[in-house]
Amino acid sequence: MIAPDRSTVYIETYGCQMNVSDSELILGKLAASGYDEVDAPEAADVILVNTCAIREHAEQRVIGRLGEMKSRMKPHAVLGVTGCMAQRLGPKLLDRAKHVSLVVGPDGYRSLPLLVENARRGARASSTDFDLEEHYEDFTPRRFDRVKAWIPVQRGCDYRCTYCIVPTTRGPERSRRLEEVVRETTAVVEEGMSEVVLLGQTVNSYTDGRHDFADLLRAVGGVRGIRRLRFTSPHPNDFSDRVISAMADTDAVCEHVHLPMQSGSTSTLKRMLRRYTREGYFECVRRLRDAIPGLSLTTDIIVGFPGESDEDFEMTLSAVREVGFDDAFTFKFSPREGTPATRMPASETISDDVASQRLGRLIETVRAGTRDRNLRLLGERREVLIEKEARRGGLLQARTRDFRTVIVPGEPAMIGTYANVELTGTTGSTFTGVVVRQRSALPVAV
Ligand code: 5AD
Ligand code: SF4
Repeated sequence: MIAPDRSTVYIETYGCQMNVSDSELILGKLAASGYDEVDAPEAADVILVNTCAIREHAEQRVIGRLGEMKSRMKPHAVLGVTGCMAQRLGPKLLDRAKHVSLVVGPDGYRSLPLLVENARRGARASSTDFDLEEHYEDFTPRRFDRVKAWIPVQRGCDYRCTYCIVPTTRGPERSRRLEEVVRETTAVVEEGMSEVVLLGQTVNSYTDGRHDFADLLRAVGGVRGIRRLRFTSPHPNDFSDRVISAMADTDAVCEHVHLPMQSGSTSTLKRMLRRYTREGYFECVRRLRDAIPGLSLTTDIIVGFPGESDEDFEMTLSAVREVGFDDAFTFKFSPREGTPATRMPASETISDDVASQRLGRLIETVRAGTRDRNLRLLGERREVLIEKEARRGGLLQARTRDFRTVIVPGEPAMIGTYANVELTGTTGSTFTGVVVRQRSALPVAV
């Protein structure tokens, strides 16, 4: 029930986990200013669409969604756009969509309650300044996930990969103080969670001036009650020996790294300004695998980057086979206005047909590898954390430390607990399993 003196907010989130985490902060801030969350736009006094700008497709979905909102929103409701697309387009969004009254970029959420109040009185505004001090330290996030906590440790990005809009939409890199991250970790343990995921655009380049990412892993992993520690996404060049040692030494750090490769061709990597070669990437993988037995690896790959020849693409396929990724997110290159890749000669553009064909072959190659690796795991036992109800009734979705999804029979009361399962079947990508011995989550030290 919504108290009569309180207003309502509905938020819809697109894009990466950083955006999901920002939505949690936004809802926390608005809750403190008298807004209760509702789960349908029709019921809301304030509707926010927290957007992504990474690919054209992500933006088109948002444009479509904003159109739909027009007919669904209450007559006096306020519609706001936040996130990366808001930052990229700023006031242009206000011109384009007259029913949008608020456009706020990733560093502007502190003033959302004020901006929303003004908008409810009829004002239209955009706020897209960067604030290099802003980490929303005093906000209390309203967490969507009750089992694992997403903790931002760094905002923005100082790399300049030539395809990427993120440095434009999220500004320069800055890190939170280690003590603040530890404070938040302690708080989530008190709320009953035992898994945290540290978030940053190039999370392993973390530095608060006094501590690096190795220090951060050791400190967060040392918080009593933390049983699983993950992070996303790292950059291969920021895996110093110190960081790899800290991963190996810290029991909570899970045996999984999501390590974006983008391409397996040195020449394409160079044009992407990724700052490593094919061999450099392989070397990083070798160092990680040497230090962390049983490490699983997932990645991001782009096909159809300007100038990508057939040979370059074949190099990507062979790299996928050689590394043996456990899974991969695969994308067709999408030109983003203002990024260096859009200034490459038109003659280097890869046609959509060719890019689609390459994407299809890449997906096949990734799937075949995932399937082979997963088949070999059948019959093995793994510890899982039960995360949520599965889509099919009576089943639960659980996750191994090495990031495999396992569907197990069980009761919703088991969500948030750990269990040992035997992997009994696989679709190729996910597993089915049976619980071998039930163990509950460690008691929480308060
Ligand atoms: N086109 C296609 N994919 C992109 N990514 C980033 N920018 C683009 C783009 N312009 C992909 C990268 C990145 C992931 C989050 O999205 O693979 O790692
Ligand atoms: Fe996340 Fe990048 Fe999309 Fe922004 S543009 S929401 S940082 S994926």
